[in-house]
Amino acid sequence: MTDTGDGAGLCAGRVVAVTGAGRGLGRAHALAFAAEGAKVVVNDLGVGLDGAPASDSPAVQVVEEIRAAGGQALAHGGDIATSEGAASLVAAAVDGFGRLDTLVNNAGFLRDRMLVNLAEDDWDAVMRVHLKGHFLPLQHAAAHWRAEAKAGRTPAARVVNTSSGAGLLGSVGQGNYSAAKAGILGLTLVAAAEMGRYGVQVNAIAPAARTRMTEATFAETMAAPGEGAFDAMAPENVSPLVVWLGSGAACDGVTGRVFEVEAGRITVMEGWRPGPTIDKGERWTPTDAGEAARELLGRAGAPGAVYGA
Ligand SMILES: NC(=O)c1ccc[n+]([C@@H]2O[C@H](COP(=O)([O-])OP(=O)(O)OC[C@H]3O[C@@H](n4cnc5c(N)ncnc54)[C@H](O)[C@@H]3O)[C@@H](O)[C@H]2O)c1
Repeated sequence: MTDTGDGAGLCAGRVVAVTGAGRGLGRAHALAFAAEGAKVVVNDLGVGLDGAPASDSPAVQVVEEIRAAGGQALAHGGDIATSEGAASLVAAAVDGFGRLDTLVNNAGFLRDRMLVNLAEDDWDAVMRVHLKGHFLPLQHAAAHWRAEAKAGRTPAARVVNTSSGAGLLGSVGQGNYSAAKAGILGLTLVAAAEMGRYGVQVNAIAPAARTRMTEATFAETMAAPGEGAFDAMAPENVSPLVVWLGSGAACDGVTGRVFEVEAGRITVMEGWRPGPTIDKGERWTPTDAGEAARELLGRAGAPGAVYGA
């Protein structure tokens, strides 16, 4: 536990909801928040890697782990991509622990296909779980925080969204996922700008870690090392920054930012910003516009490579 003076951790007394926290990164975040004194609502619908229904409820196991370590947690099994599931997630925090301070949007799954083969249902399912699955909990939490602010109790509320390198640079075979994860970046910027007045800070991470989502594709690069060596791809390496972004005074003023987090590395992503520009002061012809575009491209830096290209 971090020593904050009261000996109770960086998130002592805070109530934190983590979606998709039954396994992988979400589980690591939930345990890390609990270790810093937070009371945690562990959400997980318990679905397969492709979103298909599964019988297990991994959220309950994570709650038991947190309680066994002396922490406080409760399980929530709702689908965060439905309004009902998102509303009941916020209600579970308020009813169970009296408040909600931090929302970590993390749940999701993959349906990878090349674009020419991508079924409409695979597009919809991935957009739904990631993009709508971020929007709905964010909206229900924001309504709660706005009501608190209007009642004179402006919160130190925090949202941590989960994007991906696929959303930042694109990823071959993941057109649906890349579009959803890029959408989450836009959502993060708007939420940060709209919700600051209610005491809400909103940031996003693009993590990389060994989970069931990545172990099939990156088995070699993500393999666990020998005993005693730093396990660079352990999901637990991503959680410390998430805990800090979900804390109170410690991260005050940090909002609308995106961080890549993997192994021992944290990188601020600087995002789209204007590069070389030409203003002709009047309308271009298509040929002139093309010449100008080529000249500008000659002066601009090359974009980062699309993953898998
Ligand atoms: N693992 C990586 O390297 C990596 C890289 C970039 C981004 N991400 C993102 O991190 C997040 C966590 O991924 P992970 O690797 O831990 O995957 P994971 O499959 O281990 O965990 C995701 C969890 O979300 C749950 N879930 C899925 N749909 C849900 C729903 N509708 N409601 C509630 N829970 C639901 C699943 O049951 C699962 O337990 C995802 O958003 C993923 O896209 C992961």
